[in-house]
Amino acid sequence: MTNPNPLLDEADRERVAPPCVLVVFGASGDLAARKLLPALARLASRHALPSSFSVVGVARSELSDDEFRDRARKAAPDAGPAWEELCGSFRFVAGEYDHPDTFARLHEALDTLDRERGTGANRVHYLATPPSTFGEVVEALGANDLNRPATGGQFARVVIEKPYGRDLDSARELDRRVHAVFDESQIYRIDHYLGKETVQNLLALRFANAIFEPIWNRRYVDHVQITVAEALGVEHRGSFYEQAGALRDIVQNHVMQVLSLTLMEPPATMDAQGIRDEKVKALRAVEILDPLDVGTETVRAQYDAGWVEGEPAAGYRSEDGVDPESRTETFVALRLDVDNWRWAGVPVYIRTGKRLPKRVTEVAMQFNAVPHLPFLARQARGLGPNALVLRIQPDEGITLRFGAKVPGQSFAVRTVSMDFLYGAAFAEETAEAYERLLLDAFIGDPTLFIRSDEVDQAWRICDPILGAWQQDESPLARYAAGTWGPKDADRLLERDGRHWRNP
Ligand code: NDP
Ligand code: BG6
Repeated sequence: MTNPNPLLDEADRERVAPPCVLVVFGASGDLAARKLLPALARLASRHALPSSFSVVGVARSELSDDEFRDRARKAAPDAGPAWEELCGSFRFVAGEYDHPDTFARLHEALDTLDRERGTGANRVHYLATPPSTFGEVVEALGANDLNRPATGGQFARVVIEKPYGRDLDSARELDRRVHAVFDESQIYRIDHYLGKETVQNLLALRFANAIFEPIWNRRYVDHVQITVAEALGVEHRGSFYEQAGALRDIVQNHVMQVLSLTLMEPPATMDAQGIRDEKVKALRAVEILDPLDVGTETVRAQYDAGWVEGEPAAGYRSEDGVDPESRTETFVALRLDVDNWRWAGVPVYIRTGKRLPKRVTEVAMQFNAVPHLPFLARQARGLGPNALVLRIQPDEGITLRFGAKVPGQSFAVRTVSMDFLYGAAFAEETAEAYERLLLDAFIGDPTLFIRSDEVDQAWRICDPILGAWQQDESPLARYAAGTWGPKDADRLLERDGRHWRNP
Protein backbone atom coordinates (compact mmCIF):
# COMPACT_ATOMS: atom_id res chain seq x y z
CA MET A 1 0.00 0.00 0.00
CA THR A 2 1.17 3.54 -0.55
CA ASN A 3 1.44 5.76 2.49
CA PRO A 4 0.90 9.33 1.34
CA ASN A 5 2.25 11.72 3.91
CA PRO A 6 -0.33 14.34 5.01
CA LEU A 7 2.43 16.90 5.45
CA LEU A 8 3.53 16.57 1.86
CA ASP A 9 0.32 15.59 0.17
CA GLU A 10 -0.64 18.31 -2.30
CA ALA A 11 -4.11 16.98 -2.97
CA ASP A 12 -4.95 16.88 0.71
CA ARG A 13 -8.66 17.30 0.27
CA GLU A 14 -8.74 14.43 -2.17
CA ARG A 15 -7.46 11.91 0.32
CA VAL A 16 -9.94 9.07 0.62
CA ALA A 17 -10.00 6.18 3.08
CA PRO A 18 -9.35 2.74 1.62
CA PRO A 19 -11.98 0.01 2.05
CA CYS A 20 -12.11 -0.81 5.77
CA VAL A 21 -14.21 -1.09 8.91
CA LEU A 22 -13.65 1.13 11.91
CA VAL A 23 -14.41 -0.85 15.07
CA VAL A 24 -15.07 1.53 17.96
CA PHE A 25 -14.77 -0.04 21.42
CA GLY A 26 -16.65 2.17 23.89
CA ALA A 27 -18.99 3.36 21.13
CA SER A 28 -21.69 4.28 23.68
CA GLY A 29 -19.41 6.84 25.34
CA ASP A 30 -18.75 10.55 25.43
CA LEU A 31 -15.77 10.60 23.08
CA ALA A 32 -17.62 8.63 20.42
CA ALA A 33 -20.64 10.94 20.57
CA ARG A 34 -18.80 14.27 20.83
CA LYS A 35 -15.72 13.69 18.69
CA LEU A 36 -15.50 10.46 16.70
CA LEU A 37 -18.94 10.32 15.10
CA PRO A 38 -18.98 14.05 14.19
CA ALA A 39 -15.48 13.68 12.70
CA LEU A 40 -16.64 10.70 10.63
CA ALA A 41 -19.66 12.69 9.52
CA ARG A 42 -17.42 15.51 8.28
CA LEU A 43 -15.24 13.02 6.44
CA ALA A 44 -18.34 11.47 4.88
CA SER A 45 -19.76 14.80 3.80
CA ARG A 46 -16.57 15.71 2.00
CA HIS A 47 -16.53 12.26 0.38
CA ALA A 48 -13.38 11.03 2.12
CA LEU A 49 -15.17 7.84 3.17
CA PRO A 50 -16.05 5.55 0.28
CA SER A 51 -19.09 3.27 0.19
CA SER A 52 -16.68 0.45 1.06
CA PHE A 53 -16.22 1.94 4.54
CA SER A 54 -18.31 1.26 7.61
CA VAL A 55 -18.34 1.31 11.41
CA VAL A 56 -19.02 -1.31 14.04
CA GLY A 57 -19.66 0.00 17.55
CA VAL A 58 -18.84 -2.28 20.47
CA ALA A 59 -19.89 -1.61 24.07
CA ARG A 60 -21.61 -3.27 27.00
CA SER A 61 -24.75 -1.10 26.62
CA GLU A 62 -27.57 -3.05 25.02
CA LEU A 63 -28.02 -1.00 21.85
CA SER A 64 -29.48 -2.36 18.64
CA ASP A 65 -27.99 -1.55 15.23
CA ASP A 66 -30.80 0.95 14.69
CA GLU A 67 -30.26 2.67 18.03
CA PHE A 68 -26.55 3.05 17.27
CA ARG A 69 -27.36 4.41 13.82
CA ASP A 70 -29.72 6.94 15.40
CA ARG A 71 -27.03 8.03 17.82
CA ALA A 72 -24.63 8.45 14.91
CA ARG A 73 -27.15 10.58 13.01
CA LYS A 74 -27.86 12.69 16.11
CA ALA A 75 -24.14 13.25 16.67
CA ALA A 76 -24.05 15.12 13.35
CA PRO A 77 -27.65 16.05 12.46
CA ASP A 78 -26.75 18.38 9.59
CA ALA A 79 -24.12 16.24 7.90
CA GLY A 80 -26.17 15.51 4.81
CA PRO A 81 -27.02 12.51 2.62
CA ALA A 82 -23.56 10.89 2.46
CA TRP A 83 -23.51 10.55 6.26
CA GLU A 84 -27.13 9.41 6.28
CA GLU A 85 -26.28 6.64 3.79
CA LEU A 86 -23.16 5.61 5.69
CA CYS A 87 -24.98 5.46 9.04
CA GLY A 88 -27.41 2.99 7.51
CA SER A 89 -24.56 0.46 7.24
CA PHE A 90 -23.36 0.76 10.87
CA ARG A 91 -23.51 -2.26 13.15
CA PHE A 92 -23.53 -2.53 16.90
CA VAL A 93 -22.23 -5.41 19.00
CA ALA A 94 -23.27 -5.36 22.65
CA GLY A 95 -21.20 -7.33 25.13
CA GLU A 96 -18.31 -7.45 27.58
CA TYR A 97 -15.00 -6.44 26.04
CA ASP A 98 -13.25 -9.65 27.09
CA HIS A 99 -16.01 -12.18 26.35
CA PRO A 100 -15.57 -14.66 23.47
CA ASP A 101 -19.23 -14.32 22.58
CA THR A 102 -18.79 -10.58 21.96
CA PHE A 103 -15.97 -11.34 19.55
CA ALA A 104 -17.86 -14.10 17.80
CA ARG A 105 -20.61 -11.57 17.06
CA LEU A 106 -18.04 -8.96 16.09
CA HIS A 107 -16.51 -11.39 13.57
CA GLU A 108 -19.98 -12.05 12.20
CA ALA A 109 -20.67 -8.31 11.78
CA LEU A 110 -17.30 -7.77 10.11
CA ASP A 111 -17.77 -10.69 7.73
CA THR A 112 -21.19 -9.37 6.76
CA LEU A 113 -19.79 -5.92 6.05
CA ASP A 114 -16.95 -7.40 3.99
CA ARG A 115 -19.54 -9.23 1.93
CA GLU A 116 -22.18 -6.55 1.66
CA ARG A 117 -20.10 -3.34 1.54
CA GLY A 118 -16.79 -4.62 0.17
CA THR A 119 -14.84 -3.43 3.22
CA GLY A 120 -11.93 -5.56 2.08
CA ALA A 121 -11.22 -7.44 5.33
CA ASN A 122 -9.31 -4.38 6.57
CA ARG A 123 -9.80 -3.21 10.18
CA VAL A 124 -9.00 -0.18 12.28
CA HIS A 125 -9.81 -0.84 15.94
CA TYR A 126 -10.36 2.29 18.03
CA LEU A 127 -10.07 2.01 21.79
CA ALA A 128 -12.47 4.66 23.13
CA THR A 129 -12.93 2.89 26.45
CA PRO A 130 -11.58 3.97 29.84
CA PRO A 131 -7.76 3.68 29.90
CA SER A 132 -7.90 0.96 32.58
CA THR A 133 -9.40 -1.36 29.93
CA PHE A 134 -6.85 -0.79 27.12
CA GLY A 135 -4.67 -3.80 27.99
CA GLU A 136 -7.57 -6.20 28.25
CA VAL A 137 -9.23 -5.05 25.01
CA VAL A 138 -5.95 -5.34 23.09
CA GLU A 139 -5.39 -8.83 24.46
CA ALA A 140 -8.92 -9.80 23.49
CA LEU A 141 -8.23 -8.54 19.96
CA GLY A 142 -5.19 -10.79 19.82
CA ALA A 143 -6.96 -13.79 21.32
CA ASN A 144 -9.72 -13.42 18.74
CA ASP A 145 -7.42 -13.07 15.77
CA LEU A 146 -8.30 -9.45 15.10
CA ASN A 147 -4.73 -8.21 15.30
CA ARG A 148 -4.19 -9.14 11.67
CA PRO A 149 -6.30 -8.57 8.58
CA ALA A 150 -8.82 -11.27 7.74
CA THR A 151 -8.16 -13.36 4.63
CA GLY A 152 -7.75 -11.10 1.62
CA GLY A 153 -7.24 -7.98 3.76
CA GLN A 154 -4.20 -5.74 3.87
CA PHE A 155 -4.18 -4.21 7.32
CA ALA A 156 -5.32 -4.37 10.92
CA ARG A 157 -4.45 -1.36 13.07
CA VAL A 158 -5.25 -0.21 16.55
CA VAL A 159 -5.80 3.39 17.62
CA ILE A 160 -5.28 3.89 21.34
CA GLU A 161 -6.65 6.90 23.19
CA LYS A 162 -4.89 8.86 25.85
CA PRO A 163 -3.83 8.65 28.61
CA TYR A 164 -1.34 5.92 27.73
CA GLY A 165 -0.48 4.70 31.23
CA ARG A 166 -0.67 6.72 34.43
CA ASP A 167 3.07 6.80 35.08
CA LEU A 168 6.27 5.44 33.54
CA ASP A 169 5.89 1.91 34.90
CA SER A 170 2.24 1.48 33.94
CA ALA A 171 2.89 2.96 30.47
CA ARG A 172 5.72 0.47 29.94
CA GLU A 173 3.54 -2.36 31.19
CA LEU A 174 0.74 -1.33 28.81
CA ASP A 175 3.22 -1.05 25.97
CA ARG A 176 4.50 -4.54 26.73
CA ARG A 177 0.93 -5.89 26.55
CA VAL A 178 0.16 -3.99 23.36
CA HIS A 179 3.40 -5.08 21.68
CA ALA A 180 2.63 -8.71 22.57
CA VAL A 181 -0.35 -8.42 20.21
CA PHE A 182 0.45 -5.70 17.67
CA ASP A 183 3.62 -4.66 15.89
CA GLU A 184 4.62 -1.02 16.49
CA SER A 185 3.79 -0.27 12.84
CA GLN A 186 0.15 -1.21 13.56
CA ILE A 187 -0.18 0.97 16.67
CA TYR A 188 -1.58 4.52 16.43
CA ARG A 189 -1.35 6.26 19.82
CA ILE A 190 -3.53 9.30 19.47
CA ASP A 191 -3.00 12.79 20.85
CA HIS A 192 -5.58 15.04 19.27
CA TYR A 193 -3.30 18.08 19.65
CA LEU A 194 -1.19 16.69 16.82
CA GLY A 195 -4.26 16.88 14.59
CA LYS A 196 -4.68 20.60 15.23
CA GLU A 197 -3.83 22.69 12.21
CA THR A 198 -1.71 25.20 14.12
CA VAL A 199 0.31 22.53 15.87
CA GLN A 200 1.27 21.23 12.44
CA ASN A 201 1.90 24.82 11.41
CA LEU A 202 4.81 24.84 13.85
CA LEU A 203 6.58 22.66 11.29
CA ALA A 204 5.66 24.93 8.40
CA LEU A 205 6.67 28.08 10.26
CA ARG A 206 10.00 26.66 11.32
CA PHE A 207 11.04 24.70 8.28
CA ALA A 208 9.43 26.46 5.33
CA ASN A 209 10.90 29.87 6.16
CA ALA A 210 14.43 31.16 6.08
CA ILE A 211 13.83 33.98 8.56
CA PHE A 212 12.81 32.13 11.74
CA GLU A 213 15.15 29.17 11.97
CA PRO A 214 18.36 31.25 12.29
CA ILE A 215 17.00 32.93 15.43
CA TRP A 216 15.35 29.80 16.85
CA ASN A 217 18.05 29.08 19.41
CA ARG A 218 19.79 30.14 22.61
CA ARG A 219 21.60 33.07 20.99
CA TYR A 220 18.35 34.94 20.36
CA VAL A 221 15.67 33.32 22.49
CA ASP A 222 15.52 34.29 26.15
CA HIS A 223 12.90 31.74 27.14
CA VAL A 224 9.85 29.85 25.89
CA GLN A 225 6.37 29.94 27.40
CA ILE A 226 3.75 27.30 26.67
CA THR A 227 0.23 27.99 27.91
CA VAL A 228 -2.70 25.59 27.67
CA ALA A 229 -5.52 27.39 29.45
CA GLU A 230 -9.13 26.26 29.69
CA ALA A 231 -12.09 28.27 30.94
CA LEU A 232 -14.07 25.06 31.42
CA GLY A 233 -13.90 23.05 34.61
CA VAL A 234 -13.97 19.26 34.71
CA GLU A 235 -17.56 19.18 33.40
CA HIS A 236 -19.02 15.67 33.72
CA ARG A 237 -15.59 14.01 33.89
CA GLY A 238 -14.95 14.59 37.59
CA SER A 239 -14.29 10.96 38.51
CA PHE A 240 -11.91 10.53 35.56
CA TYR A 241 -10.11 13.76 36.41
CA GLU A 242 -9.72 12.80 40.06
CA GLN A 243 -7.46 9.95 38.92
CA ALA A 244 -5.62 12.11 36.41
CA GLY A 245 -4.95 15.74 37.37
CA ALA A 246 -3.51 18.40 35.08
CA LEU A 247 -0.01 16.93 34.76
CA ARG A 248 -1.26 13.57 33.46
CA ASP A 249 -4.22 15.01 31.55
CA ILE A 250 -2.42 17.77 29.63
CA VAL A 251 1.32 18.07 30.32
CA GLN A 252 2.44 14.47 29.73
CA ASN A 253 0.77 14.36 26.34
CA HIS A 254 -0.45 17.60 24.72
CA VAL A 255 2.25 19.87 26.16
CA MET A 256 5.06 17.39 25.53
CA GLN A 257 3.96 17.07 21.90
CA VAL A 258 3.87 20.84 21.38
CA LEU A 259 7.18 21.18 23.23
CA SER A 260 8.93 18.58 21.09
CA LEU A 261 7.75 20.21 17.84
CA THR A 262 8.91 23.59 19.14
CA LEU A 263 12.38 22.44 20.18
CA MET A 264 13.23 19.73 17.65
CA GLU A 265 15.97 19.95 15.04
CA PRO A 266 14.99 20.11 11.35
CA PRO A 267 14.17 16.57 10.23
CA ALA A 268 16.02 15.15 7.25
CA THR A 269 12.71 14.04 5.76
CA MET A 270 9.16 15.12 6.54
CA ASP A 271 7.94 11.58 6.99
CA ALA A 272 6.84 9.64 10.05
CA GLN A 273 10.29 8.40 10.92
CA GLY A 274 12.11 11.67 10.22
CA ILE A 275 9.74 13.76 12.31
CA ARG A 276 9.31 11.32 15.17
CA ASP A 277 13.06 10.69 15.44
CA GLU A 278 13.66 14.41 15.91
CA LYS A 279 10.77 14.82 18.34
CA VAL A 280 12.05 12.09 20.59
CA LYS A 281 15.59 13.50 20.43
CA ALA A 282 14.23 16.85 21.62
CA LEU A 283 12.40 15.19 24.51
CA ARG A 284 15.55 13.30 25.45
CA ALA A 285 17.35 16.63 25.83
CA VAL A 286 14.83 17.86 28.41
CA GLU A 287 16.47 17.73 31.83
CA ILE A 288 14.74 15.28 34.14
CA LEU A 289 13.98 17.08 37.38
CA ASP A 290 15.65 15.83 40.50
CA PRO A 291 12.85 14.97 42.97
CA LEU A 292 14.52 17.36 45.41
CA ASP A 293 14.02 20.24 42.95
CA VAL A 294 10.36 19.50 42.20
CA GLY A 295 9.27 21.78 45.05
CA THR A 296 11.05 24.80 43.56
CA GLU A 297 10.57 24.10 39.83
CA THR A 298 6.89 23.18 39.81
CA VAL A 299 3.65 24.62 41.18
CA ARG A 300 0.47 22.62 41.59
CA ALA A 301 -2.86 24.12 42.50
CA GLN A 302 -6.60 23.54 42.59
CA TYR A 303 -9.42 25.95 41.85
CA ASP A 304 -11.86 27.31 44.37
CA ALA A 305 -15.19 28.91 43.49
CA GLY A 306 -15.00 32.10 41.46
CA TRP A 307 -16.24 33.75 38.28
CA VAL A 308 -15.34 32.64 34.77
CA GLU A 309 -16.36 34.64 31.72
CA GLY A 310 -19.02 36.46 33.73
CA GLU A 311 -20.59 33.32 35.20
CA PRO A 312 -20.25 31.95 38.74
CA ALA A 313 -18.17 28.77 38.85
CA ALA A 314 -18.14 26.16 41.61
CA GLY A 315 -14.90 25.09 43.26
CA TYR A 316 -13.28 21.84 42.10
CA ARG A 317 -14.10 20.03 45.33
CA SER A 318 -17.83 20.64 44.77
CA GLU A 319 -17.83 19.22 41.23
CA ASP A 320 -19.69 15.94 40.54
CA GLY A 321 -17.54 12.86 41.08
CA VAL A 322 -14.88 14.79 43.01
CA ASP A 323 -13.78 13.98 46.56
CA PRO A 324 -14.67 16.96 48.83
CA GLU A 325 -11.12 16.71 50.20
CA SER A 326 -9.47 16.07 46.86
CA ARG A 327 -5.79 16.96 46.43
CA THR A 328 -5.86 16.53 42.65
CA GLU A 329 -4.23 19.44 40.84
CA THR A 330 -6.26 21.37 38.27
CA PHE A 331 -3.36 23.73 37.51
CA VAL A 332 0.34 23.13 36.92
CA ALA A 333 3.16 25.54 36.25
CA LEU A 334 6.70 24.35 35.81
CA ARG A 335 10.12 25.24 34.50
CA LEU A 336 12.05 22.79 32.36
CA ASP A 337 15.60 23.15 31.07
CA VAL A 338 16.95 21.65 27.91
CA ASP A 339 20.44 20.21 27.66
CA ASN A 340 21.54 20.55 24.07
CA TRP A 341 23.53 22.98 21.93
CA ARG A 342 20.50 24.78 20.62
CA TRP A 343 18.65 25.36 23.88
CA ALA A 344 21.13 25.25 26.77
CA GLY A 345 20.30 28.09 29.16
CA VAL A 346 16.85 28.77 27.65
CA PRO A 347 14.18 27.82 30.19
CA VAL A 348 10.81 26.57 29.07
CA TYR A 349 7.95 27.66 31.31
CA ILE A 350 4.76 25.66 31.07
CA ARG A 351 1.37 26.38 32.57
CA THR A 352 -1.94 24.68 32.15
CA GLY A 353 -5.14 24.76 34.11
CA LYS A 354 -8.88 24.44 34.22
CA ARG A 355 -11.12 27.37 35.16
CA LEU A 356 -8.63 29.98 34.00
CA PRO A 357 -9.96 33.28 32.62
CA LYS A 358 -10.23 32.04 29.03
CA ARG A 359 -9.50 29.22 26.63
CA VAL A 360 -6.17 29.82 24.97
CA THR A 361 -3.30 27.61 23.87
CA GLU A 362 -0.12 29.26 22.68
CA VAL A 363 3.63 28.92 22.38
CA ALA A 364 5.57 32.14 22.88
CA MET A 365 9.22 32.51 22.00
CA GLN A 366 10.43 35.50 23.94
CA PHE A 367 13.59 37.04 22.52
CA ASN A 368 16.58 38.57 24.28
CA ALA A 369 16.55 42.24 25.12
CA VAL A 370 18.61 44.50 22.84
CA PRO A 371 22.19 44.87 24.12
CA HIS A 372 21.74 48.59 24.64
CA LEU A 373 18.55 50.64 24.55
CA PRO A 374 19.41 54.10 23.22
CA PHE A 375 16.27 55.77 24.58
CA LEU A 376 15.39 57.48 27.83
CA ALA A 377 13.51 55.31 30.30
CA ARG A 378 10.33 57.39 29.87
CA GLN A 379 10.53 57.03 26.08
CA ALA A 380 10.65 53.24 26.32
CA ARG A 381 8.05 52.83 29.04
CA GLY A 382 5.64 51.07 26.69
CA LEU A 383 8.25 48.72 25.27
CA GLY A 384 8.05 45.01 26.07
CA PRO A 385 10.25 42.16 24.89
CA ASN A 386 10.15 40.95 21.29
CA ALA A 387 8.08 37.81 21.03
CA LEU A 388 6.84 35.42 18.40
CA VAL A 389 3.59 33.90 19.55
CA LEU A 390 2.01 30.87 17.92
CA ARG A 391 -1.64 30.85 18.81
CA ILE A 392 -2.84 27.25 18.64
CA GLN A 393 -6.43 28.06 19.65
CA PRO A 394 -8.76 29.86 19.40
CA ASP A 395 -8.18 32.50 16.65
CA GLU A 396 -5.36 30.39 15.24
CA GLY A 397 -2.44 32.40 13.97
CA ILE A 398 0.94 33.94 14.61
CA THR A 399 1.78 37.26 16.22
CA LEU A 400 5.09 39.06 16.13
CA ARG A 401 5.56 41.61 18.91
CA PHE A 402 8.08 44.37 18.34
CA GLY A 403 8.72 47.99 19.27
CA ALA A 404 7.56 50.93 17.08
CA LYS A 405 7.56 54.67 17.44
CA VAL A 406 4.33 56.10 18.74
CA PRO A 407 3.11 58.68 16.17
CA GLY A 408 3.46 62.31 17.27
CA GLN A 409 5.93 65.05 18.05
CA SER A 410 7.52 63.39 21.05
CA PHE A 411 9.69 60.29 20.74
CA ALA A 412 8.28 57.24 22.47
CA VAL A 413 8.39 53.57 21.57
CA ARG A 414 5.73 51.04 22.29
CA THR A 415 5.26 47.35 21.57
CA VAL A 416 2.95 46.62 18.66
CA SER A 417 1.70 43.38 17.13
CA MET A 418 1.85 42.11 13.60
CA ASP A 419 -0.77 39.42 13.23
CA PHE A 420 -1.31 36.57 10.85
CA LEU A 421 -4.76 35.04 11.30
CA TYR A 422 -5.53 31.69 9.75
CA GLY A 423 -9.17 32.56 9.26
CA ALA A 424 -8.32 35.77 7.38
CA ALA A 425 -5.48 34.36 5.27
CA PHE A 426 -7.06 31.15 3.99
CA ALA A 427 -10.46 30.44 2.56
CA GLU A 428 -10.00 26.70 3.11
CA GLU A 429 -11.94 25.15 5.95
CA THR A 430 -9.81 23.89 8.83
CA ALA A 431 -10.13 20.16 9.47
CA GLU A 432 -11.06 19.16 13.00
CA ALA A 433 -8.25 17.33 14.80
CA TYR A 434 -10.10 14.01 15.00
CA GLU A 435 -11.14 14.25 11.37
CA ARG A 436 -7.55 14.54 10.21
CA LEU A 437 -6.26 11.85 12.57
CA LEU A 438 -8.97 9.32 11.79
CA LEU A 439 -8.32 9.66 8.09
CA ASP A 440 -4.57 9.27 8.67
CA ALA A 441 -5.23 6.06 10.60
CA PHE A 442 -7.42 4.73 7.77
CA ILE A 443 -4.84 5.66 5.15
CA GLY A 444 -2.00 4.29 7.27
CA ASP A 445 0.05 7.38 7.98
CA PRO A 446 1.47 7.36 11.51
CA THR A 447 3.27 10.74 11.29
CA LEU A 448 0.84 12.50 13.61
CA PHE A 449 0.62 9.64 16.11
CA ILE A 450 2.94 9.06 19.02
CA ARG A 451 5.62 6.42 18.86
CA SER A 452 6.41 4.15 21.78
CA ASP A 453 9.73 5.85 22.59
CA GLU A 454 8.05 9.30 22.62
CA VAL A 455 5.48 8.21 25.20
CA ASP A 456 8.22 6.67 27.27
CA GLN A 457 10.33 9.83 27.23
CA ALA A 458 7.35 12.05 28.05
CA TRP A 459 6.65 9.89 31.09
CA ARG A 460 10.32 9.96 32.11
CA ILE A 461 10.01 13.75 32.30
CA CYS A 462 6.74 13.70 34.28
CA ASP A 463 7.37 10.74 36.55
CA PRO A 464 9.70 12.37 39.11
CA ILE A 465 7.25 15.25 39.42
CA LEU A 466 4.35 12.92 40.12
CA GLY A 467 6.52 10.94 42.53
CA ALA A 468 7.49 14.02 44.52
CA TRP A 469 3.92 15.31 44.55
CA GLN A 470 2.67 12.04 45.96
CA GLN A 471 4.29 12.91 49.26
CA ASP A 472 1.49 13.99 51.53
CA GLU A 473 3.17 17.20 52.55
CA SER A 474 3.64 18.39 48.96
CA PRO A 475 1.91 21.77 48.79
CA LEU A 476 -1.27 22.29 46.80
CA ALA A 477 -1.86 26.00 46.21
CA ARG A 478 -5.33 27.39 45.61
CA TYR A 479 -6.67 29.83 43.04
CA ALA A 480 -10.04 31.35 42.45
CA ALA A 481 -11.80 30.10 39.32
CA GLY A 482 -11.38 32.76 36.63
CA THR A 483 -7.86 33.82 37.62
CA TRP A 484 -4.49 32.89 36.08
CA GLY A 485 -3.61 30.45 38.84
CA PRO A 486 -1.92 30.96 42.20
CA LYS A 487 0.67 33.62 43.08
CA ASP A 488 3.28 30.84 43.31
CA ALA A 489 3.05 30.47 39.53
CA ASP A 490 3.98 34.13 39.10
CA ARG A 491 6.85 33.75 41.53
CA LEU A 492 8.25 30.84 39.48
CA LEU A 493 9.10 33.36 36.73
CA GLU A 494 9.65 36.44 38.86
CA ARG A 495 12.55 34.82 40.68
CA ASP A 496 14.21 34.49 37.23
CA GLY A 497 13.38 38.13 36.41
CA ARG A 498 10.60 37.16 34.00
CA HIS A 499 6.80 37.35 33.78
CA TRP A 500 4.00 35.31 32.28
CA ARG A 501 2.58 36.81 29.15
CA ASN A 502 -0.98 37.98 29.21
CA PRO A 503 -2.37 35.86 26.38
P1 NDP B 1 -16.56 7.09 28.86
O1 NDP B 1 -16.39 7.06 30.34
O2 NDP B 1 -17.73 7.78 28.28
O3 NDP B 1 -16.44 5.59 28.39
C1 NDP B 1 -16.65 5.13 27.08
C2 NDP B 1 -17.41 3.85 27.13
O4 NDP B 1 -16.63 2.84 27.74
C3 NDP B 1 -18.67 3.96 27.96
O5 NDP B 1 -19.74 4.39 27.18
C4 NDP B 1 -18.85 2.57 28.48
O6 NDP B 1 -19.65 1.84 27.59
C5 NDP B 1 -17.49 1.97 28.46
N1 NDP B 1 -17.02 1.80 29.84
C6 NDP B 1 -17.12 2.67 30.86
N2 NDP B 1 -16.56 2.17 31.97
C7 NDP B 1 -16.11 0.95 31.66
C8 NDP B 1 -15.44 -0.06 32.36
N3 NDP B 1 -15.12 0.08 33.65
N4 NDP B 1 -15.12 -1.18 31.72
C9 NDP B 1 -15.43 -1.35 30.43
N5 NDP B 1 -16.08 -0.41 29.71
C10 NDP B 1 -16.42 0.72 30.30
O7 NDP B 1 -15.20 7.66 28.29
P2 NDP B 1 -14.98 8.75 27.16
O8 NDP B 1 -15.84 8.44 26.01
O9 NDP B 1 -15.02 10.08 27.79
O10 NDP B 1 -13.45 8.48 26.80
C11 NDP B 1 -13.06 7.33 26.09
C12 NDP B 1 -11.54 7.32 26.00
O11 NDP B 1 -11.12 8.48 25.33
C13 NDP B 1 -10.86 7.36 27.35
O12 NDP B 1 -9.69 6.59 27.28
C14 NDP B 1 -10.52 8.82 27.55
O13 NDP B 1 -9.40 8.98 28.38
C15 NDP B 1 -10.23 9.23 26.12
N6 NDP B 1 -10.46 10.65 25.89
C16 NDP B 1 -11.70 11.19 26.05
C17 NDP B 1 -11.92 12.53 25.81
C18 NDP B 1 -13.28 13.13 25.95
O14 NDP B 1 -13.41 14.32 25.64
N7 NDP B 1 -14.29 12.38 26.35
C19 NDP B 1 -10.82 13.43 25.39
C20 NDP B 1 -9.55 12.75 25.23
C21 NDP B 1 -9.40 11.41 25.47
P3 NDP B 1 -20.52 0.62 28.05
O15 NDP B 1 -20.89 0.81 29.49
O16 NDP B 1 -21.68 0.68 27.13
O17 NDP B 1 -19.62 -0.54 27.84
C1 BG6 C 1 -8.27 16.33 26.66
C2 BG6 C 1 -8.33 16.43 28.16
O1 BG6 C 1 -7.23 15.50 26.27
O2 BG6 C 1 -8.05 17.63 26.12
C3 BG6 C 1 -9.42 17.40 28.59
O3 BG6 C 1 -8.60 15.15 28.70
C4 BG6 C 1 -9.22 18.74 27.92
O4 BG6 C 1 -9.40 17.56 30.00
C5 BG6 C 1 -9.07 18.56 26.42
O5 BG6 C 1 -10.36 19.54 28.20
C6 BG6 C 1 -8.68 19.87 25.77
O6 BG6 C 1 -8.74 19.72 24.39
P1 BG6 C 1 -8.97 20.99 23.44
O7 BG6 C 1 -8.90 20.44 22.08
O8 BG6 C 1 -10.30 21.56 23.82
O9 BG6 C 1 -7.86 21.93 23.78
